[in-house]
Amino acid sequence: MKVTKICCIGAGYVGGPTMAVIAKKNPDVKVTIVDINQARIDAWNDFDVSKLPIYEPGLAEIVQETRGRNLFFSTEIDKAIDESEMIFISVNTPTKTYGKGKGMSADLKYVELCARNIAKVAKTDKIVVEKSTLPVRTAQAIKSILSNTGSNVKFDILSNPEFLAEGTAIADLLNPDRVLIGGESEEAIESLASIYRSWVPQELILRTNVWSSELSKLTANAFLAQRISSINAISELCEKTEANVNEVAKAIGMDSRIGSKFLKSSVGFGGSCFQKDILNLVYIARSYNLQAVADYWEQVIILNDHQKRRFADHLISTLYNTVSGKKIGLLGWAFKKDTNDTRESAAIYVADYLLNEQANIAVFDPKVSNEKMLSDLNYLNTRSEEENSKLIHAAETPYEALKDAHAVAIMTEWDEFKTYDWRKIYTNMKRPAFIFDGRNLLDKSEMEKIGFEYFSIGQ
Ligand code: NAD
Ligand code: UGA
Repeated sequence: MKVTKICCIGAGYVGGPTMAVIAKKNPDVKVTIVDINQARIDAWNDFDVSKLPIYEPGLAEIVQETRGRNLFFSTEIDKAIDESEMIFISVNTPTKTYGKGKGMSADLKYVELCARNIAKVAKTDKIVVEKSTLPVRTAQAIKSILSNTGSNVKFDILSNPEFLAEGTAIADLLNPDRVLIGGESEEAIESLASIYRSWVPQELILRTNVWSSELSKLTANAFLAQRISSINAISELCEKTEANVNEVAKAIGMDSRIGSKFLKSSVGFGGSCFQKDILNLVYIARSYNLQAVADYWEQVIILNDHQKRRFADHLISTLYNTVSGKKIGLLGWAFKKDTNDTRESAAIYVADYLLNEQANIAVFDPKVSNEKMLSDLNYLNTRSEEENSKLIHAAETPYEALKDAHAVAIMTEWDEFKTYDWRKIYTNMKRPAFIFDGRNLLDKSEMEKIGFEYFSIGQ
């Protein structure tokens, strides 16, 4: 079937960029992104594209080109489902915060609501595409909901997980390593493949059964996160042995069997997905009684929590075992550079540990507002909202954040941090002036020449 109208449920970090690129590359296909969140849809429709709800390099230009031509943002969910031949489900699948599987399994209520909505509205045959990251065998639940409507409508279910990374979403979508489509019906798979073929070479469009596709997504994220935890584990050993983690990473990365990517030691990985997806994998393994498998993957999370904790502990112990009443300047709040996304950012947890020790924190992040920082901290529920807003604030400039600070902690690897006037920053800080570089971003010898006490990860 030649698809002419696509609907995507969920106008988030995946739905927005993915559909914008599909619309750009398929000008003859009408793409409508729908969401229950009116404010988010309004922001996507904002005339001023600098106000889009998501910051991604290159995204605003594509939205500008396609919006109103063949890309539409709307809250009219039923209408968009009704008129489309293909429906992507791209809603959030967070870790459950209640009931069975609390803190581990994926909460599938939003996905189920979408399936029920499609079942209720559809009057013609539909291809339903799982774009959200889902536990293996979720397609079975979706199929069960869709096949019990009592109507004659035929539903084909495909799994088409998304591998983009934030901050490079547009580049990743335009030049994917592969596109993965899992499904039963060859015809349905071909309909989706033909959308991607508008710009992705045929040999990069991989076809599998639906379960392999669902499980490949969780596995890819688990392997990526595992590399970070592995190099972070080595970073702690480097600090004890005078080995340098950057040198170790380079040396092992030149082995083509290991490869050089994703070996940057850091304060710990963040982002909405790595932790959530590994917890989900662990939960699934336990549900099949595969304890050794579950324990193996759980260790990736345990090590990541340890890395965030030990970064904060090292800062506190270096500042003579107390940060109480001391100003600490944080550079960066986003979970990585080039995004305004802060979900599960290491900065949130490091700030929380420091606040427990009664530090005063000033933060500068080029893309994150004071409200967002406070809401991230309030979500942890460690102390009252009032206390949080007394102890932490976002500064207008990096120089303001670091003025009179005892220490700087670099939490995000924003490029602009390298270009700051570090001599000026040093002049305005308390002595000794400490830098704790959680991203190994700055040049150690240059910082030491200025006069800083400089600490990085794994060196
Ligand atoms: P998000 O929270 O940014 O967006 C999800 C959107 O879905 C929200 O705007 C929400 O209002 C909307 N929504 C929820 N229920 C709805 C419903 N019933 N009807 C209509 N709209 C509804 O989430 P995201 O980061 O885009 O992630 C979506 C999925 O993609 C998740 O499963 C995630 O694991 C996966 N994923 C995310 C990334 C990433 O980089 N963020 C990358 C690959 C895969
Ligand atoms: C990750 C995957 O890279 C994507 O393929 C996947 O689609 C996505 O998760 C998802 O499913 O949500 P993302 O979380 O956006 O993408 O960003 P990454 O570049 O993977 O970074 C994740 C975290 O790891 C960041 O905090 C980053 O700073 C950290 N990181 C990354 C390191 O500490 N070291 C590295 O070498 C690489």
